[in-house]
Amino acid sequence: MSKLLITKPLDTIMAESKEEGEHTLKRALGPFNLITLGIGAIVGTGIFVLTGQAAAMYAGPAIVLSFILAGLGSAFAGLCYAEFASLIPIAGSAYTYGYATLGEIFAWIIGWDLVLEYAFGAATVASGWSGYFVSLLRDFGIALPPQWTAPPGTEMVLYQGRWSPLGTILPALRAAHVNPSSLPLVIGHLNLVALLAVVVVTAVLILGVRESANLNSVMVTIKLAVVFVFIGLAAAYVLHHTAAAAQNWHPFIPPNTGSFGSFGWSGIARGAAVIFFAYIGFDAVSTSAQEAKNPQKDMPIGIVGSLLICTVLYIVVAGLLTAIVPYKILNVADPVAVGVDAIGIHWGSVLVDAGVVAGLASVMLVMLFGQSRVLYSMSRDGLLPAWASRVHPRFRTPWITSMVVGVFAAFFSSVLDISELAQLVNIGTLLAFVIVCSGVWVLRIRRPNLKRPFKTPWVPLIPILGALISLALMASLPLVTWIRLVVWLIIGLFIYFFYSRSHSKVRQAQEGIPVSKDKS
Ligand code: ALA
Repeated sequence: MSKLLITKPLDTIMAESKEEGEHTLKRALGPFNLITLGIGAIVGTGIFVLTGQAAAMYAGPAIVLSFILAGLGSAFAGLCYAEFASLIPIAGSAYTYGYATLGEIFAWIIGWDLVLEYAFGAATVASGWSGYFVSLLRDFGIALPPQWTAPPGTEMVLYQGRWSPLGTILPALRAAHVNPSSLPLVIGHLNLVALLAVVVVTAVLILGVRESANLNSVMVTIKLAVVFVFIGLAAAYVLHHTAAAAQNWHPFIPPNTGSFGSFGWSGIARGAAVIFFAYIGFDAVSTSAQEAKNPQKDMPIGIVGSLLICTVLYIVVAGLLTAIVPYKILNVADPVAVGVDAIGIHWGSVLVDAGVVAGLASVMLVMLFGQSRVLYSMSRDGLLPAWASRVHPRFRTPWITSMVVGVFAAFFSSVLDISELAQLVNIGTLLAFVIVCSGVWVLRIRRPNLKRPFKTPWVPLIPILGALISLALMASLPLVTWIRLVVWLIIGLFIYFFYSRSHSKVRQAQEGIPVSKDKS
């Protein structure tokens, strides 16, 4: 058992982080790049889509409180990530932190678990992106064949000029007394739009980190511009229509309907578990530690800075959105556009569509970036085959890994349903948060004298709170999501025991015996 808990010496990790040369990653990112990398990963489907849906179904205007709750959990975990990222500035993120503190088996579990966050996260966002892209094209009169914009087997019906999944639109059809069988119907073949989106973003990543960071900055600027335009328009509307806004906010916490999670305080908790997706991504900053010019100083700035900016924006957007329209009408694919439309600014909805298309592309970029860097680190440690860490001599990026991850994400984005993917991403990420929070505390006890350029305040209180809030959010996810998590982890452990354990470079170095004779 103790051999499963073998840790990677911090000195080795630090030495690796200082390596330079053709086979290493290029150090091109400053604090500004890191904050935009964080915002690029954070602001996306969560705020633009899930806020409206969670307000309509679970929390009402009190979705603002859900954002505060999920934001608190993320902030506590973010402070723990920041301590690790400044202490262990190497590409693997939570995987590397786990290796240095909790042991190899935990490191493997985290690395494997991070695939749920990054690769499945990119697949989820690509699937959502395709919906906005199709809608943007429609704004300009271009119609794509619906069967190539949905996962296989999805029933799509034509209603009010839009092809929508029957499962999503059924409540609206019932409310309007429309018989679904009277509508034109097609069956989805493949979400080709999502697939192509992942392919393009993967190609950008392979071409180079500076280029992708620059492209990311452009997309983040567009996305933030849309958010600020929304805030400006909505705030002006609220100031001129205070009575209507007050009415929309009343009651601020709609009474519980009798079932758990449907409004009232339990609705706020359920809402927090859903919109937690909006905060995922700040940890992706830590996966770029080896590409940062000055990681020890800039990693905490990137993580905490991007998280703070997004938390404030989310609370303001959620508050304004539920003030300008009744929360009940927000259960749509484009709630922010619906809000802008409702205050009579029609060009605004096209602008929001375009901004969201740019915004979600940058989320995909950072997710795929993070995934390839985690696998790169696992491969450098011998836990994955060597090809996974091969760096392209000219582009200086881990191109084979990027391609494999791209194919994986493209496949799942084109064949799977968004909401199930998103829940799996949430549970995987929350598990990583729990392990990172615990790791900070463990390392403070085991190695109290390490030089920590950034220290998480109030240890162990902050790590404990971070882990507890994450566990509480995990607990509010459905059983089927838990089963999928367990199955995924079992597959991972299978690979660990049949490949990784015998190829681990840390074990080989520390035990000094031929791998084949290792009988631990
Ligand atoms: N936080 C990211 C989003 O909302 C994953 O899309």
